[in-house]
Amino acid sequence: MSNLTVRPRRLRRNEAVRRLVREHAVSRDDLIYPLFVAPGTGVKREISSLPGNYHWSADTILCEIEEMLKLGVRSALLFGLPESKDEVGSGAYDAHGVVQEAIRSIKARFPETYIITDVCLCEYTSHGHCGIVKGETVDNDPTLGLLARTALSHAEAGADMVAPSDMMDGRVAAIRAALDEHGFQDVPIMAYSAKYASAYYGPFRAAADSAPAFGDRRSYQMDPPNAREALREVELDVLEGADIVMVKPALAYMDVIYRVREAFNLPVACYNVSGEFAMVKAAAAQGLIDERRIVMETMAGFKRAGADIIITYHAKDVARWLKEEE
Ligand code: PBG
Ligand code: ZN
Repeated sequence: MSNLTVRPRRLRRNEAVRRLVREHAVSRDDLIYPLFVAPGTGVKREISSLPGNYHWSADTILCEIEEMLKLGVRSALLFGLPESKDEVGSGAYDAHGVVQEAIRSIKARFPETYIITDVCLCEYTSHGHCGIVKGETVDNDPTLGLLARTALSHAEAGADMVAPSDMMDGRVAAIRAALDEHGFQDVPIMAYSAKYASAYYGPFRAAADSAPAFGDRRSYQMDPPNAREALREVELDVLEGADIVMVKPALAYMDVIYRVREAFNLPVACYNVSGEFAMVKAAAAQGLIDERRIVMETMAGFKRAGADIIITYHAKDVARWLKEEE
């Protein structure tokens, strides 16, 4: 007989006891599903860089919203592919832009859907940068007014929440002021606060046609090796009035999620971005990994790191799998 008295394995003997002592769980309530809206009608085009995701028009998107709601996912994050682009991203703040029309269509049919909109200019500018370009750089202050107009036009169309992803200094304050001035005091801001200049956005840029035509985003998005700076970015967004703060990407930045959760008392979101999704899909397609187990383990990791909210292209699958595990 061994004289071991402490045996952690006692609490791992069967599923019942493992569930009793489980520290974290992902719930369907935590999930936000990103969707891409294109002009026209009857559009359902699979996005080759994001298998199982589509470009939808304002009519066909209703099918996807219905399916999402049936699976118990209530929140969507909308991105737009405009009809045309220009230097100042006019399509982003057009009252009848693609996102604005999609919001109206969804709210008319499924008013219970919680609609969050990505607020940025890169999908709408001819140069693909997230703001007004002056010479070789993105000009911070003149961009703020356009971001505020974009957020306001989303709120006017019926968006429940706005999510600025541009990384300009002062954008949360500018958006908060514009919303408040027009009676949208109750529309929250989820700020992409610690957003890194990441290669993991590659498949998204192909999907949203938003890659910069010259240069890169390193003069406004964060430098990947920095973590303390993330706390500073979050602090500023909180001071400017952010309601939810986000860390993006998620997988390579779990430490940042954890630090933000420890240092602040706001809800923390993480964005399980396109490159993270595409890697899983590619490996699964080759039979190299068990997709379901890999995805659920990753979701558990986000929760353990401290994320309250997970934005993920896997949302529908996760909801389905959670139901099966009940
Ligand atoms: C737009 C935006 C990007 C993502 C979300 N909003 C791309 C970028 O900053 O280049 C990335 C999402 C993803 O990779 O899934 N600013
Ligand atoms: Zn952008």
